[in-house]
Amino acid sequence: MNLQFGDIQETALVTLAIRASETSRPSPHIRDEKAKEIIDTLDVDVSKYDPFLSHEGVVARTIMFADTLRGLIVQYPDALCVNLGCRFDDKFSQVDNGQIEWFDVDLPDQIAVRRKVYNDRLRCTMLNGDALDGAWTAQLPKDRSANIIVMEGVLEYFTKEQTATVTDDGVRHIISNSAILSGSKTGRFPW
Ligand SMILES: C[S@@+](CC[C@H](N)C(=O)[O-])C[C@H]1O[C@@H](n2cnc3c(N)ncnc32)[C@H](O)[C@@H]1O
Repeated sequence: MNLQFGDIQETALVTLAIRASETSRPSPHIRDEKAKEIIDTLDVDVSKYDPFLSHEGVVARTIMFADTLRGLIVQYPDALCVNLGCRFDDKFSQVDNGQIEWFDVDLPDQIAVRRKVYNDRLRCTMLNGDALDGAWTAQLPKDRSANIIVMEGVLEYFTKEQTATVTDDGVRHIISNSAILSGSKTGRFPW
């Protein structure tokens, strides 16, 4: 893994440090081996980032997203899943059923860093994409029974107008027959 401390923004270190430390516990509530691998590779003391956000809050959010996703994937086993604003997140490993088609999407500079950590996998592809400009959605398959769009920890940083742009343009071409999972209560999203 050709990754250095400076490659990672501090906000990303918080969630990575929490997911890595939870994974290292004797009876972890979540396992995120990639987060642990990243933190071990950086070989720096990240303990200060663990209490910065609620450890339990990040763990609970991770579990809630994975459980909701698994439920949707049971309903739509061949779904197209898009993790929009994925950064280092690896939900695919948590929920893969052997049939879904998964895309990890983020802005080009973030995907470039992500490629230092991940390779594309079978049915799991990284893609440069902007949630505010849907040009990248032309590269997605159109033959899936449902589309599931995950935006964890993304809309919180958008203005109300930007949040509206996500549906009006960013994911407009894949929004029919889709579910959007977001932890945010901003903008026009009722969930
Ligand atoms: C706080 S991080 C959350 C990362 C990941 N979803 C998680 O929960 O660990 C926010 C992510 O949103 C991405 N992001 C911000 N604006 C974006 C945009 N317009 N299009 C796509 N991704 C965006 C950032 O690059 C960053 O990776």
